[in-house]
Amino acid sequence: MDRTTDQIKTRRKFLQILSASPLLASPSLLARSFSHLLATGEVTEKKFLDWFDSFQHSDEVISSPDQALEVLDFEAAARKALPPAHFGFLATGVDDDGTVRANREGYSRIQIRARRLVDVENVDMSVSLFGTKWNTPIVLSPVSSEKAFHPDGEVGLAKAARTTGHLMMLSTAATTSIEDAIGARGGPVWQQLYPTNVWDVGRAIVKRAEAAGSPAIVLTVDLQEGSNRETLFRAQRVDKRECSVCHQSSYTGAAQGRPRSGSGGFAQYAAKRPMFDGLDLSKVTGTHAADMNWDYVKRLRDTVTVKLLLKGIVTREDAQLAVEHGVDGLMVSNHGGRAEETLRSTIECLPEVTEGVAGRIPVIVDGGIRRGTDVFKALALGATTVGIGRPHAWGLAAFGQAGAEAILEILRRELLTIMRQAGTTSVDKIIRSYVVVRPSES
Ligand SMILES: Cc1cc2nc3c(=O)[nH]c(=O)nc-3n(C[C@H](O)[C@H](O)[C@H](O)COP(=O)(O)O)c2cc1C
Repeated sequence: MDRTTDQIKTRRKFLQILSASPLLASPSLLARSFSHLLATGEVTEKKFLDWFDSFQHSDEVISSPDQALEVLDFEAAARKALPPAHFGFLATGVDDDGTVRANREGYSRIQIRARRLVDVENVDMSVSLFGTKWNTPIVLSPVSSEKAFHPDGEVGLAKAARTTGHLMMLSTAATTSIEDAIGARGGPVWQQLYPTNVWDVGRAIVKRAEAAGSPAIVLTVDLQEGSNRETLFRAQRVDKRECSVCHQSSYTGAAQGRPRSGSGGFAQYAAKRPMFDGLDLSKVTGTHAADMNWDYVKRLRDTVTVKLLLKGIVTREDAQLAVEHGVDGLMVSNHGGRAEETLRSTIECLPEVTEGVAGRIPVIVDGGIRRGTDVFKALALGATTVGIGRPHAWGLAAFGQAGAEAILEILRRELLTIMRQAGTTSVDKIIRSYVVVRPSES
């Protein structure tokens, strides 16, 4: 290409960018100073284009896990990889998604008090839960339908848990069976329980998980009445694919845990969820039992022979009742802001739950954890371990097993960094005095 053609091309590209940029084309301060720089020759069109290219490049969505600097890089990659409705399902909260945001913002109100002059050459990040040791205090919270994010699905996630030494919980609504998940994990996987409205169905799922070798059942108690997932519904509207090919008529209801009655709903929903295989679902109307109460917990306690945890506890009163009912552990969770719009972050709920528990049983917290420093803060406020939901699903959606592994590795690395910086050489040394909680403005 001769020099003149080159210049014309540069000029054309430059003008195209200028006309597409409201800031540079307007008579704003930025545009005036930019014109001045051009006039003085300090910036040539060529230089500007080079800068613009590198700027665009730096904003690019990552195309492999090793390009990621942080967990949130995978969110953009997942958005790019998934059809709108599937990303909407992953992203959605309820109503205005205010509780999803609150979960994140809760962490920004907590400061870390870093201690100095501590020998941090050797740091032990491992934790023990019910006698089993895990490499870090980060747990994979149950996320349903993982094959909707990537064909590796829960098997890919279980393999990522195996290679990195983490605990995984399998959703009742998983697209992989507990037997296959435990096989791929090469070790124990906890079974999350949506018991449905039919006791025998919930009981059968528990007994199957126990027989497969699951050492803990995690009963989710925060989705009694379904939920208003508007971000999902909006995403479904813009998704122009023919969703009925995969979801048939029960999709909208199933997304809320309440397949529409009369549509053959639950059987169709369950068809792709192996934990319901072989069960009589004729009387099942949804994944949840609307009449679930503390008597139900007692009955389940008498049925479950392994550890029993409740997921979704956010108050001191319920924490105390759980201990009284013989529950072995709690998850402070608001379903990642997908249950109801309380606007209360789980990290704000954690202290009162740990008070109610008074050290008698382990407490896991999830919701909004995106950084190693978040893990550190949760541990300092009394959590035994923390759970991540969307982050591992972003990793999986973007790059399958390798993406989920990368998420766990980034969080492990970040936690190690802050443990060293704050002068804490093991997880049990991360105590309340390492954080300051700023009061919320109100
Ligand atoms: C797409 C999606 C599906 C989920 N499915 C389940 C489920 O089947 N059972 C359950 O107890 N929680 C489920 N959850 C909630 C997670 O276990 C976890 O509490 C939540 O994602 C934590 O918040 P985070 O996403 O901000 O990390 C789901 C969350 C998401 C995002």
